[in-house]
Amino acid sequence: MIVAIDGPSGSGKSSVAREIARRCDLTYLDTGAMYRSVALTCLERGVDPDDAEAVAAVADGVRIEFLPSEGGQRVVVDGTDVTSEIRTAEVERAVSAVSANPAVRVTMVALQRRFGEEGDVVAEGRDIGTVVFPAADVKVFLSASPEARARRRAVQRQGGNLATGDEVAVDAGDEQAILADLVRRDTYDSTRETSPLRPADDAARIDSSELSFEEVVEAILALSPELAARAGRADA
Ligand code: DC
Repeated sequence: MIVAIDGPSGSGKSSVAREIARRCDLTYLDTGAMYRSVALTCLERGVDPDDAEAVAAVADGVRIEFLPSEGGQRVVVDGTDVTSEIRTAEVERAVSAVSANPAVRVTMVALQRRFGEEGDVVAEGRDIGTVVFPAADVKVFLSASPEARARRRAVQRQGGNLATGDEVAVDAGDEQAILADLVRRDTYDSTRETSPLRPADDAARIDSSELSFEEVVEAILALSPELAARAGRADA
């Protein structure tokens, strides 16, 4: 079975997708981590993220693996664990250009489909329901107001997690800066020519601004009897 979860950054889709994977015994596929891995490799090799041909060559040659571990999934690129390195501000600045590159997308989408062929998957990203797995069994478009998303990110950066009720104090200036960056990335992701962020016509739309983490997970499980049954089986 394939579950597709799309949405803008900070909508909570990563935590939600991980939880659905855990409860329903599905493999979690973080497609954003793949674009981040290509961006990181470009930076390490001194490749300009705007040099379309050179970036496409990097995407073609790089080996991206997801390895299960006790602390959660590790991202391994050409044999090196880059789980933390792909989350830096530097990678974040480079990844927009990398993920807007049509040749890179062709390579990554092919890789993502191969994951899907191997078994039951919950994949999260921007184009999963529209491009990667248009025939997914369950499609969700998870959104939240920019303010709610900025707050979650700000708390995350300080080591907290609103999804688990682990609240920490955040600096108002930091939160404003995160909000501005989110709005900039939203505009970029939804207006780019290749695979812009948009809900699939048949996706269930869930706005998580006013919902708890558990409420979002329950809303998704309720979309599909098969998913609900898998969650029941895994809990039993
Ligand atoms: O979800 P994320 O923040 O890790 O994504 C990193 C970047 O990759 C972000 O700029 C959007 C882009 N992305 C994409 O274009 N398509 C996907 N399927 C996943 C991520």
